[in-house]
Formats: sequence, C-alpha cells, structure tokens
Amino acid sequence: MIAIDGPAGAGKSTIARSLARRLGFAYIDTGAMYRAVALWALKAGIDVDDPLRLEQLARQAQIEFTAGDNTVRLNGEDVTAAIRDALVTHAASKVAAMPGVRRAMRMEQRRIGAEQSVVMEGRDIGTVVFPDARVKIFLDANPQVRAGRRAAETGGVLDEIAREMAERDERDRTRAEAPLTQAPDAEYVDSTGLTPEQVEEAILKIVRERTSNGKGAH
Ligand code: DC
Repeated sequence: MIAIDGPAGAGKSTIARSLARRLGFAYIDTGAMYRAVALWALKAGIDVDDPLRLEQLARQAQIEFTAGDNTVRLNGEDVTAAIRDALVTHAASKVAAMPGVRRAMRMEQRRIGAEQSVVMEGRDIGTVVFPDARVKIFLDANPQVRAGRRAAETGGVLDEIAREMAERDERDRTRAEAPLTQAPDAEYVDSTGLTPEQVEEAILKIVRERTSNGKGAH
C-alpha cells in the first residue's frame, strides 16, 4: 500500500498512475469515488446538500476502476469523462464533507486495499483510511502552480480555477470529518518546479527506503 495525499493539482494522479504501472500495483483514485457519488446525485436530481440521501447513494454505488485504460465505472456505466465536469467537481467537494458518505467510501477503499497491492491517492488515505500504510507521501505544490496545472489540463480560465480550487482546498482542510492534513509519518514532497519524472524519482526513493527491510510495499 502506497498512500498519496495532498491538495488538488499537486500532481497526485499523474504520479500515482505511473508509480502503479511501474510497480505492478493497482491505481485507485479515491477522489473519483466521491465524484461518482456526486454525479449520480446530480443526474438523479437528488439534493447534494442532503446527507442522508447522499449516504444512501454512496452505499449503493458500484464504483469500479479498470486497470490499463484507467476508466471509472458507476453502476456499470463509463463515467470517466463525466466526473471531471465543473458542476460535479463542485458537488463532490460538498459530498465529501458528509460523514456518512465518507464512511461508505472508506469501507470500500479498505476492501480494495486489503485485496491487492495498490497506490491509493486522495486526502485522507495515510491519516484515516490506511493509517498503518508503510509508505505515505504528502504531495504538495504552491497554489499558483497547482491552479496553473489544472488550467492547462482543462483549458479553463486561470483566475476562476484558482478561486474555485482555493475554496475547495479550504473546505477539504477545515471539515470536521477526515480533513486534508499530513500524517505525522508521511514524507512531504513539494512538486513545485519539478517535472513529473523528478517527482516520481523522489517518491521511488522514499518507497525503496521504507520497504528496504524486506517486507515489501504491501
Ligand atoms: O482529487 P479530486 O479533486 O478528484 O477529489 C474530488 C473531491 O473529493 C475533492 O473535493 C476532495 C474530495 N476527496 C476527499 O475528501 N477525500 C479523498 N480521499 C479524495 C477526495
């Protein structure tokens, strides 16, 4: 189990995906799970401010990750592109603050992690979901760089993205349930000014150090 946490745009998905490929581990994007629940609510016309209804959806949602082509399925439907929509992004951040939704996602994440070797990325993987993970990374970058990366990815307006991202980060960091925070035993990696290759090298070095006593990264 390799746990990678950090704010939006720090480079978690890029690194986690290539690390998983390199190590032969499964890649699990836990943000995609919150996004899938939010998408379902929006499509079903369910109020995204109703914690009880959202918890029901979270418990019922069948979320699958397909290795190789990195698709995300919700109840059998390919939602890989749909969960990146700006409305879904906004709703996911609200939904992720609900304790009942987090409980359902946490159970599923633990089940997945118990079955196979994974690189799992999110906000609370090293702190709450897998507090005993041997390899924990807290990946960060300065806010302008993070917003710039997201703007380049989505083709959106930089100022708008920066504002929206700051709002989401604030909600993730200050919520009562499993807020975004660095685990005391996580290694801090700042990706500002680094290429994805350099970040991967830095993380691989940490993986090797932490797994060098022969027990493996599982
Ligand atoms: O990483 P992302 O932007 O796809 O995440 C979508 C939302 O879900 C974001 O607001 C943070 C939240 N999230 C969370 O609270 N806990 C996680 N483990 C992963 C994501």
